[in-house]
Amino acid sequence: MLLSIFKKALKYLYMEFKNHSIVSREESKEDLRLDQTLRPRSLKEFIGQNNVKENLKIFIKAAKQRKEAIEHVLLHGGPGLGKTTLANIIAHEMGVNIKVTSGPALERAGDLAAILTSLENGDILFIDEIHRLNRSIEEILYPAMEDFGIDLILGKGPSAKTMRLDLPIFTLIGATTKPNLISSPLRDRFGIVFQLNFYKLPDIENIIKRSAEILGIKITKKAVKIIAKSSRFTPRIANRLLKRVRDFAQVRGEDVINGIIAQKALDLLGIDELGLNEMDRKILRAIIEKFRGGPVGLKSIALAVGENVETIEEIFEPYLIQIGFLNRTSRGRVATDFAYKHLKIKRGLI
Ligand SMILES: Nc1ncnc2c1ncn2[C@@H]1O[C@H](COP(=O)(O)OP(=O)(O)OP(=O)(O)O)[C@@H](O)[C@H]1O
Ligand SMILES: [Mg+2]
Repeated sequence: MLLSIFKKALKYLYMEFKNHSIVSREESKEDLRLDQTLRPRSLKEFIGQNNVKENLKIFIKAAKQRKEAIEHVLLHGGPGLGKTTLANIIAHEMGVNIKVTSGPALERAGDLAAILTSLENGDILFIDEIHRLNRSIEEILYPAMEDFGIDLILGKGPSAKTMRLDLPIFTLIGATTKPNLISSPLRDRFGIVFQLNFYKLPDIENIIKRSAEILGIKITKKAVKIIAKSSRFTPRIANRLLKRVRDFAQVRGEDVINGIIAQKALDLLGIDELGLNEMDRKILRAIIEKFRGGPVGLKSIALAVGENVETIEEIFEPYLIQIGFLNRTSRGRVATDFAYKHLKIKRGLI
């Protein structure tokens, strides 16, 4: 009986893992549901990133006192660190509507013009993945952001005329995981730029506690600590892990998640105590075993592990650098002594 429950749990977790990796960027339907319940709605509920929070509080208060829209805001930082959350919070705190779109969704100039003209005074336009806007659309944004107007071209050829259309005073919030891909004229038009960093461990613990409370999950302090340590200092991953661990406990008929259960669930997911998964280890191993620890270019690493360059650069590498396992040098990536130690490989033996 126990064995069959365990097997069921194993199969379930394996399927989940295969279907949707813990570190993946894409939000599954499940994530979206979870997001609705777990996403903080106000600055007060938003845990960590104190510097960003304190600054935002001042900007919001000042804008409200002046009865003006807040300046355009650019939010950048890795996936799952809270950019979309913050954009929604700003709208909530300002008491205005938010319209949401994204760089790749805005294909034609008319798409953007339609959205801009539908805004009301003070509204927020949130453009996710703003680094993926195409040039012609970016050019419409410049006068929209600066002078709150767009130039419409009427007719074609030599008889074409341009007409300036006034827009309401709105706030553009742009979010990106790749700020270096944003052109400088666009970046310069944001009055406020915030970078979201990896969270501090106590903040991640608080996020897990908050989520557990909302979801009605009973969890011990020890289990919170174990999950937090494996969360790559990222709220989205912390929430996903909490959910996986809850599933594991439920299938095993446990009411309370304790340290042992949390650890077992993480082991089963192939996530170690530092939050590294199969792919992280594969990347480190490739650098060490195939390229003598580096320096090696990202393309060669990607080829060696069968993953694409962008995913490695955006999802895996930042965390490996953050925990000191990888260095980025002008000649390529280098595995550090910590990485060798963690993988229990002796330098010089390869
Ligand atoms: N500071 C925070 N406090 C509590 N929960 C948070 C915080 N930041 C993010 N979260 C949780 O993490 C989830 C992911 O955050 P969010 O969607 O805002 O990330 P993102 O930066 O927009 O990621 P992406 O780059 O993939 O779009 C949210 O749904 C929310 O539940
Ligand atoms: Mg987002």
